Amino acid sequence: MNPHLRDVAIPNDWDRRGLPGWSYHSAALLELEKEHVFRNHWQIAGHVCDIPNAGDYLTMDVVGERALIVRGKDGVVRGFNNMCRHRGSRVVADSQGNCKNALVCPFHGWVYNLDGTLRGAARPRSFPDLDKTEFGLMPLHLEVWMGFIFIRFRDGGPQPSVAELLKPIEPEFAHYKAADMVPSWGTWTQKTPVNWKSVRDVDNEGYHVAMAHPALQDLYGATYFDEPFVNGVSRSFASYNPHAGRRWSVKNYVNIAPEPTHLPDHLRKAWVYYGIFPNAVLSVMPESVQFYQEFPLSTSETLLRGAIYRYGDESREQAAARYLSFRIDRDTMSEDVQLSVWSNESMLSEAFEGFYLSDLEYGVRTHHDHLRRQIPVLGLETAPEEKDMWNLNDALRSRG
Ligand code: FES
Ligand SMILES: [Fe+2]
Repeated sequence: MNPHLRDVAIPNDWDRRGLPGWSYHSAALLELEKEHVFRNHWQIAGHVCDIPNAGDYLTMDVVGERALIVRGKDGVVRGFNNMCRHRGSRVVADSQGNCKNALVCPFHGWVYNLDGTLRGAARPRSFPDLDKTEFGLMPLHLEVWMGFIFIRFRDGGPQPSVAELLKPIEPEFAHYKAADMVPSWGTWTQKTPVNWKSVRDVDNEGYHVAMAHPALQDLYGATYFDEPFVNGVSRSFASYNPHAGRRWSVKNYVNIAPEPTHLPDHLRKAWVYYGIFPNAVLSVMPESVQFYQEFPLSTSETLLRGAIYRYGDESREQAAARYLSFRIDRDTMSEDVQLSVWSNESMLSEAFEGFYLSDLEYGVRTHHDHLRRQIPVLGLETAPEEKDMWNLNDALRSRG
């Protein structure tokens, strides 16, 4: 079977430059990214299995916005701004936990029901006119797709519903029965000292695998290919070589990994990565499903976040394979972190003249094209004045 999902022709003649170097270090540009990319695009918050019981919650901060996802007594998963309506405190301080049957703000003790409605203020007689119905937690747009919880802080962005956005990958992804999975080791986060786009640039191409990722190259190098971003979704595919094994983890992985019979032939040895614009990847392996993503903390600091999910009834072989693929991924990630640091710091150098991308890096280009569409100042080779950035971008946007 053809392992391609869709055939995207790479043009003969395309602009091989990346985004301008200034855009990796501009505070004004970051404000535009928050406005036009992060607040109004879907973000993966986690998976419904992270919060299986009533009162279970998880939280996530994205560019100054705070999300709180909580499961109600009725079993419904809801999203809110993690912001108390009294004076804005976090209603929940931890990244994950259980709040029994109410959310109690740690500042002055306002109490919210699990469906976000305000149960009551502390010392209610001090608010003679408080209308409780007006002070519920502010809801976020939330959609569950194959078990994954997506949230959006603001409506009106360019993306359709998650179901619509991910339709191209749905038939393939559905084989993994991700909605029935359970957590492996919980959600991880890590800070890295680069602009978020440098993380994504490295992740959006497999040209560097042969040189920079010895374990991945050993595992699946020859079979790897990328399908670039189209309408916000990309896909990269590789299937492992059952005779690989120059590295310990790879050798054991290919020996142990079972080939699940519920997967079609072309996926039984496959590692597939689905990129979701602007900043996330869902990836599948025969034994697990995971997401990872990155959020800017500043122009030069990024939070990496992700989680791995497993089959609830996994076999010992699947568990061993999952551990080994996690090890391979962990090595790969630290290699990628180094590459992103070198790429990012180059953009502060006077000598930096932009990227010169290979056909094998067309995915980087298509990601940049998606960004340019939202933030047209990214088309300017020379940095605009920081103070002019916002107005200039507005003018370019209205010109279409
Ligand atoms: S800020 Fe939450 S109770 Fe005051
Ligand atoms: Fe990489």
